[in-house]
Amino acid sequence: MKKIAVFTSGGDSPGMNACIRAVVRTAIYKGLEVYGISRGYEGMIDGDIKRMHSHSVSNIVQRGGTILKSARSMEFRTPEGRKKAYDNLTKLGIEGIVAIGGDGTFTGAKVFFEEFGIPTIGCPGTIDNDLYGTDYTIGFDTAVNTALEAIDKIRDTAAAHDRIFFIEVMGRDAGFIAVESGIGGGAEFVMVPETKTDLNNVVKSLKNLRKTKTSSIIVVAEGDDEGNAETIMKKVKEKIKDSHKEFKVTTLGHIQRGGNPTARDRVLASRCGMAAVEGLLLGHQYHMAGVMNQEVVYTPFADCIGKTKPLIKDHLKLIEILSI
Ligand code: F6P
Repeated sequence: MKKIAVFTSGGDSPGMNACIRAVVRTAIYKGLEVYGISRGYEGMIDGDIKRMHSHSVSNIVQRGGTILKSARSMEFRTPEGRKKAYDNLTKLGIEGIVAIGGDGTFTGAKVFFEEFGIPTIGCPGTIDNDLYGTDYTIGFDTAVNTALEAIDKIRDTAAAHDRIFFIEVMGRDAGFIAVESGIGGGAEFVMVPETKTDLNNVVKSLKNLRKTKTSSIIVVAEGDDEGNAETIMKKVKEKIKDSHKEFKVTTLGHIQRGGNPTARDRVLASRCGMAAVEGLLLGHQYHMAGVMNQEVVYTPFADCIGKTKPLIKDHLKLIEILSI
């Protein structure tokens, strides 16, 4: 293998730049030519592919976002789009790809590999932490800390006004950000897509808590089965029938996707980027390079997207016990 390409795709996550840097520099170190594809699969289809050098990735290790830009491509879902992408890669003689992204990115990579056979290694770049085959994903730690900082600030004003706050964090299908920011921020409740939310129980507990607390923080993952934070707040308000209590909603939104990556994310990104290039040279063909129990592991794309990563067992219990 002499030439490889790297791209970022799907929702960006802090640490993607550190990962690109690691891929580019490891490739050069190993004597490979390396190319950067802009805007994920969109750029692959448009032929937006440029040679990268060591200096192309200078001064980016600390930056959020992605210098290669990201996109969610509809055209890549079509066989015609994928054929265009393949033609652009073969024109340049690219024999291996590093795909940095989440489950959507790896679903595309799997289909592309099955059709055209270009070896592709994934790096887990998503704030959601919802990929099987790695303990943590690149960007998760930064996103949790961003959410936590916001929760701490909201707690101050919640306490000052004796209010109940519903704080919505990202996570359409996974509650990792909600759970970890909830534990760190001392939330009274955390609502996540993985478990059934029992609003009657929440109302009962909120009434009980009034004996000891004047304000409460409820962290809601956007994909909770009872709805988003606004919907849940309205349902709880309706059930609680307490006209003296004020309910407020804060949606943290895309603030969780930006910012300088934490040290943990930079290290994870650098390890995965290096492992991706090494994986290609070792002959892995459709795997994600992740880190589990401190070790680099290569997991087939089919497992990364097909198997569900469960929430850490005791975390929900921990929130319940510590909120009394
Ligand atoms: O997958 C990452 C993620 O940030 C999710 O947590 C969120 O639901 C989604 O992306 C938002 O996507 P977009 O930026 O396209 O609105």
